[in-house]
Amino acid sequence: MKAVILAGGSGTRLYPVTISVNKHFLPIYNKPMIYYPLSLVMLLGIREVLFIVNPDDREAFKKLFGDGSHLGMRIQYKIQERPNGLAEGLILAEDFIGADNVCYMLGDNIFYGHDLVQIMKDAKSEIETAGGACVFGYYVKDPERFGIVEFDEQGNVKSIEEKPANPKSNYAVVGMYFYDNRAVEIAKNVEPSERGELEITSVNEEYLKKGKLKVKLLGRGFAWFDAGTHDSFLEAGEFVATIEKKTGLMVGCIEEIAYNNGWINKEDLLALAKPLKKTDYGKYLIELAEKE
Ligand code: TTP
Repeated sequence: MKAVILAGGSGTRLYPVTISVNKHFLPIYNKPMIYYPLSLVMLLGIREVLFIVNPDDREAFKKLFGDGSHLGMRIQYKIQERPNGLAEGLILAEDFIGADNVCYMLGDNIFYGHDLVQIMKDAKSEIETAGGACVFGYYVKDPERFGIVEFDEQGNVKSIEEKPANPKSNYAVVGMYFYDNRAVEIAKNVEPSERGELEITSVNEEYLKKGKLKVKLLGRGFAWFDAGTHDSFLEAGEFVATIEKKTGLMVGCIEEIAYNNGWINKEDLLALAKPLKKTDYGKYLIELAEKE
């Protein structure tokens, strides 16, 4: 399985902050927002990643991640000329995905929770063995803002609607999707919505029509932030700061994950830590490298 991370968009809900800076570079506590979705992909053991980026931001992304080799990964970038919607990223990623399955992540979504990685690994292996799509539902208070999933009495998915005026449930589909290879063809056939975007909900609806959509619920043990508004951005940063200070462990530390995955060795880790040595982040990496 390969991973595609969407890191374009216009970020208008974070204006004026994001007039001149792409939101994915903004700090969620002590690291750029984009580290969080990348770290999840790495925890799944996926080494091949494509970032979908705006034309003006490619160089800055390259400055941050290069070709990924310092992390033992292969990272590529694809420009999205205009924010035409979440499903367009699948079309743009066609060559990258090739004949593979895909883990599709939104660059501004932040997840934390016990067993999160195991749940994602289960979704990954289900798609790899049985095909189809797997998405995740999370209880929200403001369902009008999200793609909303409706269930019948047996817990089967009945419908998925994008930003419904009259939501049929409070379960939002979060920004982490697992698709088999058909997703690209499905995305190509999606018609733009009333707001003129190729909606990811349309892709999920198509899988639902084929009887190939699984929705797993993330319960109360999980935290999910769509860090694209001023409040959720701040909440996500405060949440990460609290967890890190309480546990003494970092959330979303890509160098640590690369090291624990065996993708880089002790010397590589120390070299990555060197330019960060004035920060607690750098000290954390040095401590990790020196632990036996
Ligand atoms: P959104 O937060 O839905 O959209 P946005 O980033 O344009 O922000 P706003 O609504 O405030 O104007 O996007 C979710 C994620 O997907 C985010 O990480 C940006 C990314 N994205 C793309 O890469 N391409 C797109 O065409 C869109 C719409 C979003």
